[in-house]
Amino acid sequence: MAGAGASIADDFYDRLADLKAFDATKSGVQGLVTRRASEVPRIFQRTSEHQHAPGRIEMDHQAAVPVIDLAGSQREEAVAEIRRACQEWGFFQLVGHGVPPGAMENALVGVRAFHEGDPEVKAALYSRDGGRAAKYSSNFDLYASRVANWRDTLTCRMLPDPPKPEELPQSCREALFEYSKHIGNLGHTLFELLSEALGLNPAHLEEMKCNQGQILFCHYYPPCPEPEVAIGTSAHSDSGFLTVLLQDHIGGLQVFHNDKWVEVPPIPGALVINIADLLQLISNDRFKSVEHRVVAKREGPRISIACFFSTHFHPCSTRLYGPIKELISEENPPLYKETMVIDYVAYYYSRGLDGKSTISHFRLS
Ligand code: OGA
Ligand code: NI
Repeated sequence: MAGAGASIADDFYDRLADLKAFDATKSGVQGLVTRRASEVPRIFQRTSEHQHAPGRIEMDHQAAVPVIDLAGSQREEAVAEIRRACQEWGFFQLVGHGVPPGAMENALVGVRAFHEGDPEVKAALYSRDGGRAAKYSSNFDLYASRVANWRDTLTCRMLPDPPKPEELPQSCREALFEYSKHIGNLGHTLFELLSEALGLNPAHLEEMKCNQGQILFCHYYPPCPEPEVAIGTSAHSDSGFLTVLLQDHIGGLQVFHNDKWVEVPPIPGALVINIADLLQLISNDRFKSVEHRVVAKREGPRISIACFFSTHFHPCSTRLYGPIKELISEENPPLYKETMVIDYVAYYYSRGLDGKSTISHFRLS
């Protein structure tokens, strides 16, 4: 038994050393791929105890994430479709949303240019410090999670206080400012529709400042030499109020629905919308924040931009969020305690991704 104990300790030591060595390259997974790695290094290998390990859970190829056309529906119809999607799936694809195709394309092109651009520019931005308006790193939860993800991320905090232009990398600066402006407008529309879908006054969620903060997570998923052993993004639910995701044509995003994984296929021009944890919490479980993941692929790179409506890098936001009073009654008692966004996110970050529910920690027992 002593032998087994020693080997666990050795494994642990090796992993930490490998994580630190990888982190110190400041060039992420893209850097590994550029150096022509033909195998997935051990820190990225999924283990059998990794939740939702390959083969453990089936895919459902019949079910389809709802697609909602904002331009093609009457408001009441759109509200009803959104309500159903948020209750049953926590996810929907949105077309007719008014964000110009050119702004979406330019954002994807700019993000790719950053990740494939000058390694020195990237190394200078490489940081795990939450205080910076723009930072680049691989795996925000590198040291907290059990398996590193085959993904690098440029994180840009756009609202409530927009970064100075020179704080964003030049390769994607203009494109991200432009994209962020359009997504801000869409966010306004979406929070109105979501308020109505909850039976509230259209301004309710905006008055609660759910769209006050906007953070862009600009992901880069390099082609993976052994996609069966790695994962692009481990299963997780999002920590903010709402996420608007732009994905390119590669695919790989999957959502957990009725105990199976369902693909979220790329639809040209569409945005993927999902309810995040804090909206589930304030809606007192009417809307669901659902687990999703990104599988690794041989094809690539895959680029995606997840816009989180959340103030989670703004420690000044001291507002408390709990189940909305109008949604509470004797039959519907509050299911969660109140929390500040920053405390919610601190707990979320301390645990890392990988299917570990944060929201259950805030549930009233
Ligand atoms: C996320 C996320 C999915 C993707 O950033 O939270 O789930 O397709 N991204 O990159
Ligand atoms: Ni997510």
